[in-house]
Amino acid sequence: MTYSRILGTGSCLPEKVVTNHDLEKIVDTSDQWIQDRTGIKQRYIAGEHETTGDLAEQAARRAMEAAGKGPEDIDLIVLATTTPDQIFPSTACLVQSRLDIHGCPAFDIQAVCTGFVYALAAADNFIRAGNATCALVIGAETFSRILNWKDRGTCVLFGDGAGAVVIGASDEPGILSTHLHADGDYAKLLHVPDGVSRGYDQVQQERAFVEMRGNEVFKMAVNTLGRIVDETLEQNGLKKSDIDWLIPHQANYRIIRGIARKLQLPIERVVVTVAEHGNTSAASVPLALDVAVRDGRIKRGEMLLMEAFGGGFTWGSALVKY
Ligand code: UT7
Repeated sequence: MTYSRILGTGSCLPEKVVTNHDLEKIVDTSDQWIQDRTGIKQRYIAGEHETTGDLAEQAARRAMEAAGKGPEDIDLIVLATTTPDQIFPSTACLVQSRLDIHGCPAFDIQAVCTGFVYALAAADNFIRAGNATCALVIGAETFSRILNWKDRGTCVLFGDGAGAVVIGASDEPGILSTHLHADGDYAKLLHVPDGVSRGYDQVQQERAFVEMRGNEVFKMAVNTLGRIVDETLEQNGLKKSDIDWLIPHQANYRIIRGIARKLQLPIERVVVTVAEHGNTSAASVPLALDVAVRDGRIKRGEMLLMEAFGGGFTWGSALVKY
């Protein structure tokens, strides 16, 4: 039986840091409110000409270097983003060219904040089926581009960045299981209402911006992530105590703490980057993973539970023996 395992991780953040105090000058908010309600202290925001592809490329290079893999080794690229550089080609194809990789399949996945978990599941399935041997899986966003900087309910929450992993075929797991779900009935609680086919709001002459009913999303996220944690443990016949590290989507510290409590996992065993990164959507899980791998917290052989929840609604998890 063929499995896939993580061979290397990488990430990239823009240079520009925007603190909560900076946002106090733009919208009616306060550092205290943002920290109390979300745990966020700052976020990184892409420069004027910096794109999702730029961040993705750097994260991918670092992941390939950590994995000891070159362009000739990669035979699949899956990139999760809600904020592609262009309508087409896919950002995966743009990054493929910059990395001097040629011929292998490359495509984008759109599952908003759950995007990386979806991308990882897709790549894992390619490898398990024997259709790829070494895949580059990227979550990358310039979410700041779709924020309404006059809406204090959303603009304080998000940031930009990219994270990547290289996964390779292995006789031993690796990725033990992935669990993906979606329910489009909840689309309007968290969405960008405009788009290519529907057109853009010509009256307001505004770009397409994120709209969110935060409190309703919060409640759904807590319940849904609680359920997917149970589903993941049950399907693998594991106990809560078998999990060494929780690597959650970094949307809100209160949600993260709730899931940690459910797992009876001390907060020291949870990778928390929300204070520094904010919510980077599809980049948040691989960014957090890379931080904890590089600072030496996550070690080979440990059991990782990744989970995410986002627009769609979409939600998912991955159980990984690192
Ligand atoms: O990544 C995808 C998944 N996304 C999430 O998981 C996000 C889920 N939602 C959340 O994290 C939280 O709901 C928020 C952080 C967005 C909001 O926290 P909340 O505790 O649910 O607050 P709320 O929306 O119920 O708003 C409470 C009050 C309101 O004022 P009133 O009506 O009570 O007077 C808001 O207008 O806080 C006000 N408020 C703010 N005040 C200062 C909303 N945003 C801000 C702000 N600064 N930035």
